[in-house]
Amino acid sequence: MRINTWNISLGEKEAQAAYDSIMERNLSEGVKVKELEEKLAKFLGRKYAVCVPNGSSAVLLAMMGIGIKPGDEVIIPDFTFIATGHAPKLLGADVVLADVCEEVPVINVDKVMDLITSRTKAIIPVHLNGRHADTRKLKDLLKGSGIYVVDDACQAFASGTVGNYAGCDADIACYSFAVTKIMTTAQGGFVTTDDDELYNRMKKLKMQGMDNIFESNLYQLAGFNLKYTDILASIGLVQFSKIDEKVKKSKEHYQMYKTSLAGLKNISMIPTKENEVVYTPDILCSDSVGLRKFLEDKEIQVRPAGACLHNADYFEKRTTYNNANYFEKHLLYMPGGPDQPNENIQEVIKLLQESCI
Ligand SMILES: Cc1ncc(COP(=O)(O)O)c(C=O)c1O
Repeated sequence: MRINTWNISLGEKEAQAAYDSIMERNLSEGVKVKELEEKLAKFLGRKYAVCVPNGSSAVLLAMMGIGIKPGDEVIIPDFTFIATGHAPKLLGADVVLADVCEEVPVINVDKVMDLITSRTKAIIPVHLNGRHADTRKLKDLLKGSGIYVVDDACQAFASGTVGNYAGCDADIACYSFAVTKIMTTAQGGFVTTDDDELYNRMKKLKMQGMDNIFESNLYQLAGFNLKYTDILASIGLVQFSKIDEKVKKSKEHYQMYKTSLAGLKNISMIPTKENEVVYTPDILCSDSVGLRKFLEDKEIQVRPAGACLHNADYFEKRTTYNNANYFEKHLLYMPGGPDQPNENIQEVIKLLQESCI
């Protein structure tokens, strides 16, 4: 039987919630979105959460919120999903790539300082696969500079603990509810902030720049339609009610891989902190192409690391990317996801062990 890289539970409760939302005429953005926003903000300990159609538009809204424009520079890590860079690029900024740390594929905040120029307007640390970038240190280093820190926590909702969740130290943080995230509404996302001014601006920007669509005689800002929907938020409320279970399951799967693969030649794990929730169990291996083929031949779906962003010729390269290159070459994503049966994980582990003999 084929084992897929990802498995997430969605069932009757979510279907019923969507049905009820439709029957109650809670369709586009309204009471359900508001309820979800309040729950997300409270959970993360932030003042505000603002829902949007997906994680990509969360990053876009954050960039619009801080006023990114042509001529600005935005620094992002070389090793991330490309959506991180497309939002500032589409607003006309130059996107400057930074290398990641040697041991963990998150932005190296010390090295980032060398890339700052008078045009730098923002830095986007990415909490890749639930592992925290050191946003707190970055904020300290940037004190007084006027440079915004916008966290891309699209792969890290609920990773951490109260007061220390991924994204909580940033001026704005962005999250995704895509299918391969810890909770999903098929598409969806949100931003968080504690800043009243940024919040009010982003609320307007996602509604064509207006405070109130019914009083549209006052045009204040060039915005867009980045509204979420009550139908999806209704599904989100059910998914959110299962978040503790999802976190528990993801941690359990990661621990199973970590314990069973310890000491194997050719395979190692990335250092991971106790409270970090790794969404998709990842391993480092000496021959990722060969190992992927070995597993795929046995009907195990594994996902290779995405290409480093310096492969896109429209981003700025001003340093070397040795660490990002290393992760691109050696990292593989193994089957996981909060609804992946433990037997599947055990089967994959058995094959990984065999591959090392
Ligand atoms: C790091 C990162 N940023 C942004 C996004 C974009 O999120 P979405 O797919 O919801 O648009 C993703 C999605 O996988 C992501 O992993």
